[in-house]
Amino acid sequence: MLGYNIAMANSEKRDRISRIEALQELWQHSRRVGKLAVTLGGKFSLKKGELEVLERAAKLHDVGKLLMIRLVSGNGSLTAKEREKLRYHPALGVLLVGLWLGSTGREVVMQHHEQPNGLGYPRGLREDQIHPLAGILAVADHYDALASDRCYRKRFKLSKVIQMLEDEAALGILNPGVVEKAVKLWGNGVR
Ligand SMILES: [Fe+2]
Repeated sequence: MLGYNIAMANSEKRDRISRIEALQELWQHSRRVGKLAVTLGGKFSLKKGELEVLERAAKLHDVGKLLMIRLVSGNGSLTAKEREKLRYHPALGVLLVGLWLGSTGREVVMQHHEQPNGLGYPRGLREDQIHPLAGILAVADHYDALASDRCYRKRFKLSKVIQMLEDEAALGILNPGVVEKAVKLWGNGVR
């Protein structure tokens, strides 16, 4: 019985630690994506106000995951049901901080997992239906996810990251025009 209790306490402690790590990772990823999105957005002819909306949306794009921290604190492998749940995080983010995002910011957060090929979520938008700022945010988000250490895996080598971004553009997962600018910007690493 004592052994069982100790094992339970240890497993609860591990769960708590992995949730704290997941929160830290979420915070750091959001901060980096905020910076990356603004740098990338600077390569397009955006107005100052649009860049501000992009930065705010980029910093808050995954805030909905706070409501599902147990899901994102695992080892990166999710069941089909958990993956389905995770698809609600853009909408939850809009519910949480929508007032602060403004109408364009809400669309950008809502659309950050949409794909030009129509296979993204939550609405399966295609090509021009996707807000241009959401297309920029998606590339910054993918770049950071691939180029940074995660709780459950190490970062990919830069050459691999660039190759993966180009492959995703070719498959219609990311906007090719945005990926082209990102490769020019970060092909030799982020400075
Ligand atoms: Fe996300």
